[in-house]
Formats: sequence, C-alpha cells, structure tokens
Amino acid sequence: MSAMLEIENVSRRFGGLMAVNEVTTHVGEGELVGLIGPNGAGKTTLFNLISGFTPVSSGEIRYRGKQISGLKPSAIAHLGISRTFQNLRVFPNMTVFDNVSVGAVGAIGQGPLQAILSGSSRAKDISERSWEALEKVGLTEQANELAANLAYGKRKYLEIARALAMKPDLLILDEPAAGLNDSETAELADFIRTLHSEGLTVMLVEHDMGLVMSICERIVVLASGSKIADAEPAVVRQTPEVLEAYLGVDA
Ligand SMILES: Nc1ncnc2c1ncn2[C@@H]1O[C@H](COP(=O)(O)OP(=O)(O)OP(=O)(O)O)[C@@H](O)[C@H]1O
Ligand SMILES: [Mg+2]
Repeated sequence: MSAMLEIENVSRRFGGLMAVNEVTTHVGEGELVGLIGPNGAGKTTLFNLISGFTPVSSGEIRYRGKQISGLKPSAIAHLGISRTFQNLRVFPNMTVFDNVSVGAVGAIGQGPLQAILSGSSRAKDISERSWEALEKVGLTEQANELAANLAYGKRKYLEIARALAMKPDLLILDEPAAGLNDSETAELADFIRTLHSEGLTVMLVEHDMGLVMSICERIVVLASGSKIADAEPAVVRQTPEVLEAYLGVDA
C-alpha cells in the first residue's frame, strides 16, 4: 500500500537557487514525522509545495494516491491537508472565534453569508467545527476576545485551531514552538502527542531539537535543499552528514 503522502523527486527553483532539490520522502498514515534542517534548508518551501502555496518546479506529490502538485491550496485543504504558518497569520482585529471560523469556512467551501442565506445547516457546521477546534486548544473562554489581546503563546494555539477547524487528516506545522518558553514548549509537545494519539497524521518543522527528538517517530533532514537523512531520531542524531550540517564540522 502506498503512503498517505508521497513526495517524489520534488524540486523547487527560485532563479538560480534550488530551494528544494530532488527530494523524495513520504508520510505514512498515522505517522508523526519531523522535518528539520538549518535555516534556509528548504523546510518551509517543502511545506508550501505540499500545501500548494508554491508550485513545484519538477517532481510529483501525491496524497492518498492522487496527484496534488498543481492543485490550488483550497483544493488541497479540501482533500484533508491543513497547515500552520511560520509567521503567524492571525487576524488581530477579529475575534478568536472568527479567526477559527475562517478555517471552518475553508473546509466547508462556502462563505458564512452564503451559508446563512442558503438556509442550509452549513452555518451550524461552521460554528460547531469552530467551537470544537477552540475546545481542543483550550481557547473557548477567549472566543469573543480580539485575537490581538491574546498572549503570543495563545496566538500560536489559535493558529493551530484554525487548521484543526478544517478537520484535516494530515496536519503540517511550521515551527509551532518558535518563540515559546521551555514550559510552553513542553505543553505544546504534549498537545501534539495528544493530537497524534487521537489519529491525526502530523508533519512538523521545528528548530527545537528536544521537541523533535522526543515526539517524532521519524525525522527527515534537509540541508541546502537536499535530503541528507530520513530515519528514526536515534539514527538521525548520529548521522555524520546531519552533525556536519548543524555544527559545520566533519563528523
Ligand atoms: N519566494 C521565494 N523567492 C526566492 N527565494 C526564496 C523564496 N522562498 C524561499 N526562498 C529561498 O529558498 C531557501 C529555502 O527557504 P525556506 O524558507 O524554505 O527555508 P527554511 O528551511 O524554512 O528556513 P528557516 O529555518 O529559516 O525557516 C532560502 O534560501 C530562501 O531564501
Ligand atoms: Mg522556514
């Protein structure tokens, strides 16, 4: 059986720069996979390729056997892939609830106004999904506050809630722990573990090595656009190319 997400010989060129260079890897159904690498390694670009925000230059990406490279981000989201962004995309002047319902609307594929006018149950769906997602991340009490009033750590959960409101099967997180302190990072690790144990497949970009090593089942390492390792944490930790990429030393 093929993997849930298959990335085959995928490249993305920006002018003369190969941001992602002939990368082949996969994510199995139910896996929790880390994607690491030094700054500029191509991690966010690979996420953008998977989620359709950036078109591939060559290669193919398949989700549950269907080619998704070339589809629009909304179409890919509909198939069940949701993501968060490295730079938070929270709307500060909207309430916490409305920020999340943007995700639910995206999943249901109709504007809230259309949904109400159509008299369908969709407005209810949007509301239910949004509450469910808020509850998951523990933000129900702040639902009516402006997002701008949330502490930074809470805004990161808001971003995750918006992705969850799309009811994804595959969640891709771009540096969810960036800017969090140690106890917030530990809490986030538990949260991601819980999502995973509930059946969500997760792909995680993260610089916090402790977090990645402790929760991921497999780690893919990129350096200068190319894949240099793809193995379980204990193996990756001892791969000479990885040590070299991170420490700049010949291991
Ligand atoms: N839209 C773009 N146009 C031109 N170059 C880009 C673009 N997006 C990314 N790059 C370049 O591609 C390379 C990979 O960038 P990317 O953001 O994917 O790295 P990253 O691994 O996510 O790094 P970081 O850990 O700093 O987030 C970098 O050299 C970056 O400058
Ligand atoms: Mg990045």
